[in-house]
Amino acid sequence: MRIVLTHELDQAAELVATEILRQLDKKPKLVLGLATGSTPVGIYRKLAEAHQRGKADFSRVHTFNLDEYLDLPAGHERGYRYFMDEHLFQHINIPRENIHFPPSEGSDLERRCVEFEERILEVGGIDIQVLGIGSNGHIGFNEPMSSLCSRTRIKTLTDKTLTDNSRFYAEGEHQPELAVTMGIGTILDARKIVLQAFGAKKSEAIRATVEGPVSSSCPGSALQLHPATTLYLDPDSASQLRERKYYERAQQLQSKLRQEGRL
Ligand code: GLP
Repeated sequence: MRIVLTHELDQAAELVATEILRQLDKKPKLVLGLATGSTPVGIYRKLAEAHQRGKADFSRVHTFNLDEYLDLPAGHERGYRYFMDEHLFQHINIPRENIHFPPSEGSDLERRCVEFEERILEVGGIDIQVLGIGSNGHIGFNEPMSSLCSRTRIKTLTDKTLTDNSRFYAEGEHQPELAVTMGIGTILDARKIVLQAFGAKKSEAIRATVEGPVSSSCPGSALQLHPATTLYLDPDSASQLRERKYYERAQQLQSKLRQEGRL
C-alpha cells in the first residue's frame, strides 16, 4: 500500500486525475471503476476540465460504477446514475453504452450481477478503480463483515451507513436500505486502486485499513492484499496512523526516485 499524505483536497484530486489522464493517453480503451460520494467529485471535475480543454478523449473508455441503491427509479436525483451524470458523464464524450452500473431494478438480480461481472471481464478488466471509504470502513457498499472474496451482489446497509447518508435525504423522504455493490473480490481484481479519504470522520477507518489486521470487520483492510493500491489522505483522515512519520519519509524518498525518472 502506498500512502500519499496531501495537504489540500485539491492536491489529491489533481494527483489522481493526472494519473488517470496519463493512463488514458497510453490506453484509449481504458476501463475505469468509479465511486460516488463527496470524495471523488474533485477528480471528476478535473477529468471534465481536461476533456473540455481538448486534452482527454473518453470515446473508447468504459466505466463501471461500484454500486447503486436498489429500486430507486431511473433518473432519481439521489441515485448514483444521476450523481455520475451531474459530476462527470454529461461533461465528457463517453458513449452511453460504455457506462455500466450494477443492476438495481427489476428481477433476476443475481443472474444480472453475474452478467455485470462478465461485462467487466469482456472489456478487459478494470484498469483503475477509484474508491472512497465509509466511516465504518466500507468500500463500495461492502459493509463490515462482507466476505473478502465477495462479488457483485445485494447488500443490506448498516445503521451507521444509513445515518451517514441520511444527510442527502429530506426528513420523511424514503431512504433505501438495500444496495447492489461490486464485491471486495471484484474490487481487488482491478489493476490499480486509488482511494482518497478526507476528514477526521474517516480517521478510524483509515487506521484500520492501513495498520489493522486484514479483517472483514474493516472491508478497506482487504486492500492490503492488493499489489498496487495508493491511498491519498489529508492530515485529518491520517491523524490516527501510528506510522505517519514513516509514510512521510517513504513518500519523500519515493518522489525523489520519481523525479530522477527511475520509477
Ligand atoms: C457511499 C458510497 C461509497 C463512498 C462512501 C463515502 O456509502 N457507497 O462508495 O466511498 O459513501 O462517501 P463520502 O465520499 O461522501 O464520504
